[in-house]
Amino acid sequence: MIIRIDKWISDATQYSRSEVKNFFKYNKVKVNGEIVKKSGYKVDTEKDQIELFNEILEYEEFVYLMLNKPKGYISATLTDGEKTIMELLDLKYQKRLFPVGRLDKDTEGLILLTNDGKFSHQLMHPNKKVSKIYYIEVDENLKSDLVSAFINGVDIGDYVTKEARLEILSEKTCTLEIQEGKFHQVKRMFSAFDYEVVYLKRIQIGDLKLDENLKLGESRKLNKEEIGKALVN
Ligand code: URA
Repeated sequence: MIIRIDKWISDATQYSRSEVKNFFKYNKVKVNGEIVKKSGYKVDTEKDQIELFNEILEYEEFVYLMLNKPKGYISATLTDGEKTIMELLDLKYQKRLFPVGRLDKDTEGLILLTNDGKFSHQLMHPNKKVSKIYYIEVDENLKSDLVSAFINGVDIGDYVTKEARLEILSEKTCTLEIQEGKFHQVKRMFSAFDYEVVYLKRIQIGDLKLDENLKLGESRKLNKEEIGKALVN
């Protein structure tokens, strides 16, 4: 890909476009070892080697991260004063990435972030039926007939849910696999049977499991195999 070098550097680092423009004035940018003075200089992302402050920069066109979302953060890029999951990321990713779908403010666990619109669209599209698995704690003992009720579909007010697989783990804990993502879907499904969800954590998207080594608030890049796993339905 051929792009302007100031955009390239801004995308690859935490610096804004206007900050990057200044670096050219002070001879801080090199392409293939030669100082470049013009911020509009075009580079080939496949071939050219770009240095800032004498350090070679790595550039990736698309980035895919998994984040272990803590409670108290909104899954959005901009809000009115609320904490967003973006502030948990490295500065260089904060301005480039967006969350794929949402988790409620009080939900924890696996959320993906990317700058790849096509990937995000595929994952979110209802026809793709990518499954999501949640670990859930409720306020009352779970009855076993809930399993068949969830398979048959639950009326959550404005919508009847599609087949959902509930696995009861203990009196008040379970996992639930759904292939859709209606607003507050899990909480509303339990609420339809008078249960309150007291803890909710997403643990899997498609075949991709939340990395157990990630502490709350930590994120890491996905490798190629994991990117494919997220899209498995
Ligand atoms: N269902 C919910 O109710 N909340 C979430 O955050 C995700 C699924």
